[in-house]
Amino acid sequence: MAVCEKHVELYKELDAYIEELKGKKGILINVLHKAQELFGWLPQEVQDHVAKKLNIPPSVVYGVVTFYNFFSTKPKGKHQIKICLGTACYVKGGDRVMERFLSELGVEESEVTKDGKFSVHGVRCLGACSMAPVVLVGEKDFYGKVTPDMVPGIIKKYKGEG
Ligand code: FES
Repeated sequence: MAVCEKHVELYKELDAYIEELKGKKGILINVLHKAQELFGWLPQEVQDHVAKKLNIPPSVVYGVVTFYNFFSTKPKGKHQIKICLGTACYVKGGDRVMERFLSELGVEESEVTKDGKFSVHGVRCLGACSMAPVVLVGEKDFYGKVTPDMVPGIIKKYKGEG
């Protein structure tokens, strides 16, 4: 990964966070959370950096990262589009909604669009089965009873942002 100015800033912020916690027990998960929050995912370089800073073998860091599914070793788009493929959503056409998102954005599942703005992920039940099929954009933009024809409009809302 090329180290650009932005990354230097992020590493600095991560190091400051590590300094704050140093000496406390079991901080690895907290540090990895912080790193993912800053970088959006956990590239190998970042994992190695954390290992070095905490003075632990990289294999231990890697083990933790791959054990918990909330850590990501692949980049994600600025706007993560999660399409529920749980049973209730699937039977109501969640799979067709998913296909439409993938074709509109020209990506495969979990791949990031060239502009870095979107990635599309199939997920299990989002806990709103009565609204099936359900789509979640980012952490809180929730769309219920989504049809494939609504997909371009949903994407459009985020296209102009950052
Ligand atoms: S199955 Fe999709 S919200 Fe429950």
